[in-house]
Amino acid sequence: MSASSGSVLAPSARPRVVVGVGGGIAAYKVGGLVRAFTESGAAVTVVPTAAALGFVGAATWEALSGRPVSTDVFTDVPDVKHVMTGQRADLVVIAPATADLLARAAAGRADDLLTATLLVTRAPVLMAPAMHTEMWTHPATVANVATLRARGVTVLDPATGRLTGADTGPGRLPEVDHIHAVAALLLRDPAALLRDLAGRRVVVSAGGTREPLDPVRFLGNRSSGRQGYALALVAAARGAQVTLVSANVTLDPPPGVTRVEVGDARELAAAMTEHAAGADAVVMAAAVADFRPVRAGAAKIKKRPGQAPPAIELVENPDILATLSRPGPDRARVVVGFAAETGDDTATPLDYGRQKLARKGCDLLVVNRVDEGRAFEVADNAGVILAADSSPPVEIPLGPKTVLAAAVCDELARRLPGREPPK
Ligand code: CTP
Repeated sequence: MSASSGSVLAPSARPRVVVGVGGGIAAYKVGGLVRAFTESGAAVTVVPTAAALGFVGAATWEALSGRPVSTDVFTDVPDVKHVMTGQRADLVVIAPATADLLARAAAGRADDLLTATLLVTRAPVLMAPAMHTEMWTHPATVANVATLRARGVTVLDPATGRLTGADTGPGRLPEVDHIHAVAALLLRDPAALLRDLAGRRVVVSAGGTREPLDPVRFLGNRSSGRQGYALALVAAARGAQVTLVSANVTLDPPPGVTRVEVGDARELAAAMTEHAAGADAVVMAAAVADFRPVRAGAAKIKKRPGQAPPAIELVENPDILATLSRPGPDRARVVVGFAAETGDDTATPLDYGRQKLARKGCDLLVVNRVDEGRAFEVADNAGVILAADSSPPVEIPLGPKTVLAAAVCDELARRLPGREPPK
């Protein structure tokens, strides 16, 4: 399943993606999604609802997709569009999925071209909701989302933030980058987003710590946070309740994920200790500074003419992964570490990985090779997942960080069978 099968290619060189647009104000953002699909080589057919055309007109969708657009089943009848569009699709993405569209899809209605397409298609379906918080939390919508998810539809949670009026809360369309990343994963592997982590509590750390030297300078590292954010995105899409402890990352939080922001290693350690207690799984994807300056001056360090540069005295930071891996009543059931390794004359990156897995006491260790500029500040990643139990290593070939994230989630799901969230 997913990345562990070794398949990272899309099902066809030019995947056929149907983008169904619901009638909500967030329709204006979906132009960027259509563009992202066409730029990544997909053939896109946009199917707006009649209400969606009240927000963004057909000419926009036709220009962005390069294809004609229709909303009803009475246009081009000899082409049997209401059947062909769904039959030919490799993926159907609905954005924004309004409360009304979710309800019609859950009821299995087919009263326009988009809902007919949803009923016909056997391709994976991804829905990105956007609506007011009251509509999202209404029992009718909650039940419709549960029905769709039980049928295998990937329904993302909405993002949280400012809504159309003055109010704030869950209901914003997930960021286009997140929708596109999840869609690309489904195109590679329709089984990559099963809800097999439903009801599980997963804590992920991401980014890189900054150890202050003075009020304007720090000792840091090159971690962008992308791998940890991809893990949070995929784990949440698979049903987990995810807390993302984020150190100095500029990315948007993935939809449905609770983000806790930290700065240095000691703040990261405190947040992880708090949130990881009793969690089902903990994934330490953050790059933690092993050392910090003994003193972080309150005043800026100045150059003094004629004086030698100041020496920076360092002290060791706590080893968070090793601490979280220690046996005890609060230990998470599965603890995962990451190790960016290079080889040398005496050992390969995997040899160093095996030693680190044993030394830290975690259950799984994802070993990334960081020679040749890989892993840091790039969109793709490759790795090998080593396990402390007798499971064989899992190789993940170079591909998007979501693919590696899905492989890690496969290993979590295998050790934590999904359960429904408490009512
Ligand atoms: N890690 C941690 N706390 C630290 C250092 C590292 O929790 N103080 C975690 C990282 O988040 C990662 C794993 O340990 O999941 C391995 O990180 P790495 O930097 O490779 O480990 P080190 O123990 O620092 O080993 P090395 O001597 O190779 O740098």
